[in-house]
Amino acid sequence: MKSLKFALLGAIALAATPFSVQAEPTAEVLHYWTSGGEAKALKALQKTFKDRGGKWVDAPVAGGGGDAQAAVLRSRVLAGDPPAAVQIKGPNIKEWAEAGALGDLSAVAKAQNWDGVLPQAIKDIVKYDGKYVAVPVNVHRVDWIWANPKVLAKVGAKVPTTWAEFNETADKLKAAGIVPLAHGGQPWQDATVFETVVLGIGGIDFYRKALVELDEEALGSDTMVKVFDQMRKMRGYVDPDFPGRDWNLATGMVMRGEAAMQIMGDWAKGEFAAAGKKPGVDYICASTPSDGGYLLNSDSFAMFNVKGDDKAKGQALLAELILSEDFQETFNLYKGSVPARTGVKRDNFDSCALKSMDDMEAAAKSNKLLGSVAHEIAQAGAIRGAFTDVATAHFNSDMSSEEATKKLVEAIKLAQ
Ligand code: GAL
Repeated sequence: MKSLKFALLGAIALAATPFSVQAEPTAEVLHYWTSGGEAKALKALQKTFKDRGGKWVDAPVAGGGGDAQAAVLRSRVLAGDPPAAVQIKGPNIKEWAEAGALGDLSAVAKAQNWDGVLPQAIKDIVKYDGKYVAVPVNVHRVDWIWANPKVLAKVGAKVPTTWAEFNETADKLKAAGIVPLAHGGQPWQDATVFETVVLGIGGIDFYRKALVELDEEALGSDTMVKVFDQMRKMRGYVDPDFPGRDWNLATGMVMRGEAAMQIMGDWAKGEFAAAGKKPGVDYICASTPSDGGYLLNSDSFAMFNVKGDDKAKGQALLAELILSEDFQETFNLYKGSVPARTGVKRDNFDSCALKSMDDMEAAAKSNKLLGSVAHEIAQAGAIRGAFTDVATAHFNSDMSSEEATKKLVEAIKLAQ
C-alpha cells in the first residue's frame, strides 16, 4: 500500500503546475452518470458550463454506484494525467485531498458564502483540513421504496410501513405470481438493500454503532443475525434474472408493472421523471421502514490538480456554477435528488423531493441523519468493500445468518 501511496504522490506532484489567467475555460469531467435520469441531469450541467463559455470534455465511465469509475480514476492519477473534475464523494474526497491531489476551492467558497448555505452534513463531506476541496452537487436519499400502486392493488396492498408488512405484502405478491422486489444483482445494490435493512431491523443507534463506529460487539450481535434473516427473506422476493441487472433496468420493471417495488436511492426518481411518470399516480415513494432515519448520499465534484491555464479556469467556472440557486434547482429536478444548499425555492420540486427535504431536516435535528455505507459517505475503501462483499456473498448463496455475521466481523477487522 505504501508504494502505491508514494507512486500516487509522485504522479500528483508532476501533474500540478501553477497557472496564469488567459485561456478558454476547459474541463475534462470524469463521471458515471450514464442512465436516463443521470444523463439528463449531466446534460444540464454541460449546457450551463457551455453557456458560460466553457469547453466540456466528457469522460463517462458506465457502471452504477461508481466502482468502475474509481478504477479508471486511480489509473489516470498514477499515469500523472488526472481529469480536471471528478464525481467523487465522502471519505474518498478526504483521501485524495490527503494525497495532495485536489485544488483548494476556498476562493469561490468564500465568494459564494458556502459556509452560510451548506448544511453541516455536507460541509463535513467536502472540507479537508478546514478548506473546501470539492463542490457538492446534491443530496440523494438512499432509504426509499419505489412502488407501483396498481401492482400493489392486485393483492389489496398499500406501500409497507413496517418490515413485517413488507414481508406480508411480498408473500401475497409472490403467491399471486407477481415479482415483489425488482433488484439488480450487483454488489453495491445488495449493499444498498442491506443498509436499509440494518436501519430498519437494527434501528438507528444500531446502524451508527455497527456501520459507522464499527463496534465489534454490534457487528457480531444477534441483531446483525436478525438483519441477515431479513436479507434472506429479501432474496426470496427477487426474480430469477436479477444477477448482474443494472439498477435502472430494475426501476423500469416497477415502471412497467413487472414488479411491485424497488429499494433504491432517489436517483431512481430521475428514471421515473425521465419517463414522464408522476409521483402519487404512476409510482409511490416511501421511506423504507425505520424510526425516522435518513440515509444520506451526496455527489460532489472534486477538482484535481492539473496542468494548464485553460483547465484551471474551467475548474473555477464549474465550482462557481454548480452551487448557484438556478443550477441547483435544474440539476436536482432531473437527478431525483434535492439541493445540496439552502435557499433554493421548493415550488418546482415534487412531493417525494419535499418529503426528502423535510425528513432530512427532521433527522438532522433528532440525530437520525446517517451516512450511507453502500454509497461511500459513512465508509469508503476497504471498509465499505467489506460490508459490500459480505452482503453480496450472503445474498447470492445459502449462507446462514450466523455465518454471515461471523464473516462480517472478520471482514471488518481485516479491512481496518
Ligand atoms: C450513486 C450516486 C448517484 C447515482 C447512483 C447510481 O452512488 O451517488 O448519483 O449515480 O450511484 O449510479
